[in-house]
Amino acid sequence: MIAQQQQATTTAAAVPVTPRYQTSVLFSISDKIGGLNEYLEVIKNHKLNITRIESRPSKTEKYDYDFFMDLASDDANTNNIDDVIAELKSKGVETTVLTETKQQQPQANTIPWFPRKISDLDLFCNKVLEMGSELSSDHPGATDPVYIQRRKEIAQIAAVFKYGDKIPHIEYSEEEIKTWGVVFRKLKEIYPTHACRQHRYVFPLLEQNCGFSETNIPQLQDISEFLTECTGFRLRPVQGLLSSRDFLNGLAFRVFHATQYIRHHSVPLYTPEPDVCHELLGHVPLYADPDFADFSQEIGLASLGASDEDIVRLSTCYWFTVEFGLCKEGDSVRAYGAGLLSSFGELDYCLSDKPEKRPFDPFVTCKQEYPITQYQPTYFVAESFQSAKEKMRAFAESLEKPFSLRYNPYTLSIEILDNKDKLIGLCNQIKAQTNNLASAISKLNVN
Ligand SMILES: [Fe+2]
Repeated sequence: MIAQQQQATTTAAAVPVTPRYQTSVLFSISDKIGGLNEYLEVIKNHKLNITRIESRPSKTEKYDYDFFMDLASDDANTNNIDDVIAELKSKGVETTVLTETKQQQPQANTIPWFPRKISDLDLFCNKVLEMGSELSSDHPGATDPVYIQRRKEIAQIAAVFKYGDKIPHIEYSEEEIKTWGVVFRKLKEIYPTHACRQHRYVFPLLEQNCGFSETNIPQLQDISEFLTECTGFRLRPVQGLLSSRDFLNGLAFRVFHATQYIRHHSVPLYTPEPDVCHELLGHVPLYADPDFADFSQEIGLASLGASDEDIVRLSTCYWFTVEFGLCKEGDSVRAYGAGLLSSFGELDYCLSDKPEKRPFDPFVTCKQEYPITQYQPTYFVAESFQSAKEKMRAFAESLEKPFSLRYNPYTLSIEILDNKDKLIGLCNQIKAQTNNLASAISKLNVN
């Protein structure tokens, strides 16, 4: 579940000439007047330089804001990070050291902190902008105490989830299954004429393998195992709205953060926020398609270490593709965006003559404004997922970053390509794959 608007801010602060020691730290603080200044003063007093601050509002029981900071010093004697942490802790600040770098590091190549391995996602999975159990006053379930309590129970499952855990099975009530059934039946009626080929292909497989039916809400764990077999994607439960950066970062590891709660039963065809119907009927089928999975990961990889401005651009591309994308299919156009595939009304509307339809081009799409509470006036049409992936890769290459990276599918981690050995290792892998390809082609020719 992604926030529609990027709310984090990044500030470039005074930078030392050649920081030798860099420590990336996550601070969680409560909202109090002058709090941040007081904490920054501690860092200043210990003669550490802040080379990057990235902040985001975050709701947990104890804290309101999180700050990712890169702290640098050019002298081992002034690298007082332990003292800084101890003093901040004594002031009630929760701190987590993310990485420590202890080598000469020219400023031009300073790399901001971002998750490097899949388990790093544990660090921010609870840094939500809104808790899944907090309902606005106009939410259909806002005055239903039973529904509110249920949302809290389900949010708690996501709150304690860690990478490697099995996603807990949720025993959905008869009322919840009935709500799911209404949505499932209505949407399934129009999928054959409105959903893209990939969705139509995968949906019956989900019925056969993952318990998709009108009388059963499928379990995230079963679906996650299915997706991992298909494309290496996996699901991770989330309790509420993540920041755009955190959500997109998850995609870099082929991880999709999914809610488990369901909309209020009083209006089964309406939800003001993503719910299990949106995630499972809209998103999940597409993540079983290799080209779509690759396309999504491209956006995720581009988001790692990106500036806040680029995160907004990438989120906008995500919005007009993964959420509200259309694609060509022969002479017609079909829907592949999850926001469309999980909304009976908009799925019909998007293929009508009413909205504007433009070709997908991330350099153009990234600038398009959009409403978040009504049908989209403009949609972008992809030629194919393969074509969308290539365009997204070209867009990602145009973003200014002082480093290159690659995803290592064996270790589920991100490698920074910053030395000759790593590049040689990558060349050797590509060489082996090219040999394999040549061998396969020659065998095809023989046959
Ligand atoms: Fe979504």
